[in-house]
Amino acid sequence: MKDILQELNDRRESAKLGGGQRRIDSQHKKGKLTARERIDLLLDEDSFEEFDMFVAHRCTEFGMEQDRPAGDGVVTGWGTINGRMVYVFSQDFTVFGGSLSETHAQKICKIMDMAVQNGAPVIGLNDSGGARIQEGVASLAGYAEVFQRNIMASGVVPQISVIMGPCAGGAVYSPAMTDFIFMVRDTSYMFVTGPDVVKTVTNEQVTAEELGGASTHTKKSSVADGAFDNDVEALTEVRRLVDFLPLNNREKPPVRPFFDAPNRIEDSLDTLIPENPNQPYDMKELILKTADEGDFYEIQEDYAKNIITGFIRLEGQTVGVVANQPMVLAGCLDIDSSRKAARFVRFCDAFEIPILTLVDVPGFLPGTSQEYGGVIKHGAKLLFAYGEATVPKVTVITRKAYGGAYDVMASKHLRGDFNYAWPTAQIAVMGAKGATEILYRSELDDAEKIAKRTEDYEDRFANPFVAAEKGFIDEVIQPRSTRRRVARAFASLRGKKLENPWKKHDNIPL
Ligand code: HXC
Repeated sequence: MKDILQELNDRRESAKLGGGQRRIDSQHKKGKLTARERIDLLLDEDSFEEFDMFVAHRCTEFGMEQDRPAGDGVVTGWGTINGRMVYVFSQDFTVFGGSLSETHAQKICKIMDMAVQNGAPVIGLNDSGGARIQEGVASLAGYAEVFQRNIMASGVVPQISVIMGPCAGGAVYSPAMTDFIFMVRDTSYMFVTGPDVVKTVTNEQVTAEELGGASTHTKKSSVADGAFDNDVEALTEVRRLVDFLPLNNREKPPVRPFFDAPNRIEDSLDTLIPENPNQPYDMKELILKTADEGDFYEIQEDYAKNIITGFIRLEGQTVGVVANQPMVLAGCLDIDSSRKAARFVRFCDAFEIPILTLVDVPGFLPGTSQEYGGVIKHGAKLLFAYGEATVPKVTVITRKAYGGAYDVMASKHLRGDFNYAWPTAQIAVMGAKGATEILYRSELDDAEKIAKRTEDYEDRFANPFVAAEKGFIDEVIQPRSTRRRVARAFASLRGKKLENPWKKHDNIPL
């Protein structure tokens, strides 16, 4: 028996070495952790239960039968994050560059199937040279099996991808279908075709970092939702995100203990809105002053900054926040911000996370680049996402809510449950200047008359009361009591039940 146990031990130790000490050292030299070190940091101490530690590939081409490391380049299993169950796979770059073989894919598929069946998130730590070249089509088939499971799991369990090394070819499409992608600065990149292929085909000269580094994907392409300085920070932040999320679409988001009075009054919010309506202010201040303990987990912080998306808690319960940011492009809606917010709203709705919308929007951004880029269709994504969402929706208009953007931003008409406005709100088809110039075009030469007309328009429309008279605004609230009002609103909506008509699926404008 002693020998048998010893053999198990030896086999385990050998499997844990992956591609060997030399390659582990090389991984460390690049500033990267190994697949197992990453899992240790991601999960609660001693909570990891591994599957398939001894699985080896079945390839016999290119002399591969001589080299069959246990585990085949990916460590899979389950464990807990602050006591809550998650499934995880972590690609081991020391084994054939973390490349995906048939068996490597089967290991990932096994834990994805279990995650869907048992209702727990899947977290993928990606560090892979893509399809295992020696295996050819068997590897491509393996990718497609993973893709199919990503699609089936979408909206059932949260899927999170962390890109912690190269991610090329097929390796990018599985993360692309997950809910959130995070990257590590300077050591990770994602692209469909690498710099060499780009050079050959398009003659463009570009580095891997420029083509698909963290900065590119968080600022330009919006493929990634966040970037972190190193492996440790990335994994710590994923733990923080998981704390906000429900484990699956059948359960409510977690309610954590909170240490912040729900009735907290913030006098400083009474002076947040500047006197000059064209002067910006920082909407994040309102978010932080509304959230429990000022804790805000921002998603896509560096992309389309004219809209802010992320998670807060109110009375311990997770709430998704969508907020126009007057500091950037005056808070206009445009193609990028509409896409960003629409995806976030749909994630929240899929996982029963209530949505708080903070509105200060002068309208959609005008211009040929927007129209040629299809702002009509992209703007419609956000409109569609809000309209189909059945989760509790609470909206606060702080200042401008003009035109179509008023409708889009979780208005009463899109089944907003509580639509509040601050007394500084201005709800109208457009701003006073634009409106009078259209209505009184024949008087444009007479500055005095136009000034009077503008003033009249402002008196009539630059307030929330016209909308409140019609019941489109449920209540005009004091800025300082926003946290209390919003927290009470969500508390009253905990039993909300609303169903859309049966359909196979909708046809959101893509
Ligand atoms: C098999 C691979 C591999 C791969 C790397 N290795 N990629 N083995 N299949 N795809 C092995 C290397 O042979 C090497 O083995 C070890 O991993 C480390 O690789 P290095 O090149 O030494 O590392 P580095 O310099 O850091 O470069 C990493 C890399 C590069 C950028 C990922 O290896 C690379 O370009 N690999 C090929 C990427 C690629 O084209 N993949 C196929 C994409 S097509 P030793 O033994 O020396 O340690 C695809 C199609 C799927 O994925 C489509 C589905 C829709």
